[in-house]
Amino acid sequence: MRYNIAIDGPAGAGKSTIAKRLAKELGAIYVDTGAMYRAMAYYFIQKGVDKDDIDTITKLCKDVEVSISYENGEQQVILNGENITGFIRQEAVGNMASATSVYPVVREKLVELQRQLAARENVVMDGRDIGTVVLPDANVKIFLTASSKVRAKRRFDELTAKGEKCDIDAIEKDIIERDHRDMTRETSPLKQADDAVLLDSSDMTIDEVVDRMKQLVKEA
Ligand code: DC
Repeated sequence: MRYNIAIDGPAGAGKSTIAKRLAKELGAIYVDTGAMYRAMAYYFIQKGVDKDDIDTITKLCKDVEVSISYENGEQQVILNGENITGFIRQEAVGNMASATSVYPVVREKLVELQRQLAARENVVMDGRDIGTVVLPDANVKIFLTASSKVRAKRRFDELTAKGEKCDIDAIEKDIIERDHRDMTRETSPLKQADDAVLLDSSDMTIDEVVDRMKQLVKEA
């Protein structure tokens, strides 16, 4: 049977870790749509464009080619033929992605690609607008969230483990700002679809969240 699963939620709720695990256990393809917005953002940064320069951004959207492929089950993002997966995780790229994902011209391009992928394969797709806009007919929709404190702590632990020096309060402030921008933008804001199940992972382990999702898939 063909199916699609939509997982939306704010940054740091654990979407990608959990969606990846769920896809693997179900034998579906994991699609990280945030990585596509990051790829566009990376391109804008490379071109030295200001995040508010909509004219140049519109022009650049016409030429740029974003696609994804898989290597050992890991999603790779290809920008104009070059694999840029290793370059899109920095905070600067994330902030640019959040700022430029407000533009319909950026979103239209990527939504089209996301729908094509879901039409071809069973997908577990994560993002901000998957259940509401990209795949409104998804078989299962989940809105995964966690408190900003818990999300900041997770990010802090991740960065500290990598040997990076960081400040937990600054991280939380950044998370709150990004949430606000993602939730209040005009085009496809981050919001729970009416038929999505809300899961708060603040006090749950990864295993618990994945098990709960598997149960929801089974019920559907
Ligand atoms: O999930 P992420 O942090 O990789 O996403 C980066 C930014 O991309 C996020 O701040 C908002 C945007 N985004 C979006 O607008 N729609 C999506 N479906 C996924 C991400």
